[in-house]
Amino acid sequence: MNDMLNETVNAAAEETAEVIAEEAAGINTEIVSDESENLLEVKDLTVEFHTDSGIVQAINGLSFSLKAGETVGLVGETGAGKTTTALAIMGLINCPPGFYKSGEIIYKGKDLMKIPESEYLKIRGREISMIFQDPMTALNPVMPVIDQISEVIKNHKHVSAKEAREEAIEMLKVVRIPPERADEYPHQFSGGMRQRIVIAIALACNPALLIADEPTTALDVTIQAQVLEMMRELRDNFNTSMIMITHDFGVVAETCDKVAIVYAGEVLESGTKRDIFKNPSHPYTVGLFGAIPNLNEDTEFLYQIEGLMPDPMDLPKGCPFAPRCSYAKDICHAEKPCVSRLPGEEHVVKCHKYTGSDENQEIVNEEWRDE
Ligand SMILES: Nc1ncnc2c1ncn2[C@@H]1O[C@H](COP(=O)(O)OP(=O)(O)OP(=O)(O)O)[C@@H](O)[C@H]1O
Ligand code: SF4
Ligand SMILES: [Mg+2]
Repeated sequence: MNDMLNETVNAAAEETAEVIAEEAAGINTEIVSDESENLLEVKDLTVEFHTDSGIVQAINGLSFSLKAGETVGLVGETGAGKTTTALAIMGLINCPPGFYKSGEIIYKGKDLMKIPESEYLKIRGREISMIFQDPMTALNPVMPVIDQISEVIKNHKHVSAKEAREEAIEMLKVVRIPPERADEYPHQFSGGMRQRIVIAIALACNPALLIADEPTTALDVTIQAQVLEMMRELRDNFNTSMIMITHDFGVVAETCDKVAIVYAGEVLESGTKRDIFKNPSHPYTVGLFGAIPNLNEDTEFLYQIEGLMPDPMDLPKGCPFAPRCSYAKDICHAEKPCVSRLPGEEHVVKCHKYTGSDENQEIVNEEWRDE
C-alpha cells in the first residue's frame, strides 16, 4: 500500500506546480454544488462543548457533501473534530456539555438537526450506521456477539427473535466469522475479528450511509488490509455510501472517492481523490503530503509540520492554520479566508492565497513550483 501511495504522491508533487501554473487563471470564488443529488450535506456545522474550564469550539462551520454510493474520507490530525462531526450526524452529541450552535445536516432532503429523537431512533442503525473508533468499547462485553447483531435487526426490522438470529448468522458469514462462534463473547475474539463483528452490527440493517471512525487504526497492518478489503467489498455489494474517518492517506487512496481535509473543526480543502492527490493546494494539505515517508528516497529526517493545532478554547481570529503556516501574511491573522473554487472536478479550498486578496499569490505559486 505504501509503494502505491508513494507513487501517487510523487506523481502528485510533480504535477502540482504544473497544474497551478496552467490553471491559476481559472480560479474563482464561487462554490458550485449540485444539492439535488446529495445523499448527505453537512452545511456550516458548528458544535461547542461547554466545560468547567471554558467553551471548546470543536466544530466551526464545517461543510461537506456526499452523493449516494460515494465514499468521502475525512482526514485530519488528532483533535481536528472528525469524531464530533460523526457523532453530530448520528445525533449522538450529549447536550450538555455539547451544543449545536448552527448549521444543517441534510440527509435525503431532511434536516436531521430539526427532527425529534423518536424519528432519529428509526434512522440511527437502520439508515445511518457508525463503526466506532475502538471496537472493544463498541461491543457489550457481557453479551454474546450474535445477540448484539440480532438486537439491531429485531429493533429495526421488527422480525421474530428466530428470524433475527438467522439474519445475524448470515451477517457473521458475510464478515467471515465462523457461525459456530456466534455465542461467544467479545473477549474471546481477536482485535481484527472484533472489528469485523462491529462492522457486521453496523451493516446488519443494510444502511444507506455508513460512518467508519478510524476502523483500522487499532489493528495491525496485515489485518488492516484485510478489514479494508472487506469493507470495500461490502460497500460495493450493498451499495452503501460511506464516510471514512482517518488520518492515513493510504486508507484514503484505497477506499475513498472524495476527500475533505479537516483542521480545527473546519474543512480547509476538499475535492475528489484525484483533485487532492494530484493537486494538493492548501498549505496544510501540502504539509500532510510532505510528511509521508518516501521509500524511494534516503531521508534522514521525516518532514513535519511545525507547531500544534490551535487550542479549541482559544482559536485564532483569522485562518486557523496561520500560526503554523510559512505563507501567512497579515490578512491571514486578521480575517478568515472564504471558500475558493479551484480548477479540477470538485476542488475547493479555504485559503487567502486563492481569494485574490493576497498580493503575493503569484510569488507563493512560484515558490511551490521551485519545491
Ligand atoms: N465531550 C467533550 N467535552 C469537551 N470537549 C470535547 C468533547 N468531545 C470532544 N471534545 C473536544 O473536541 C475536539 C474535537 O474532538 P474529536 O474527538 O472530534 O477529534 P478527532 O478529530 O476525532 O480526534 P482523534 O483523531 O484523536 O480521534 C477536541 O478538542 C476534543 O478535546
Ligand atoms: S490563509 Fe494564509 S495562513 Fe491560512 S493557509 Fe492560507 S496562506 Fe496559510
Ligand atoms: Mg476521533
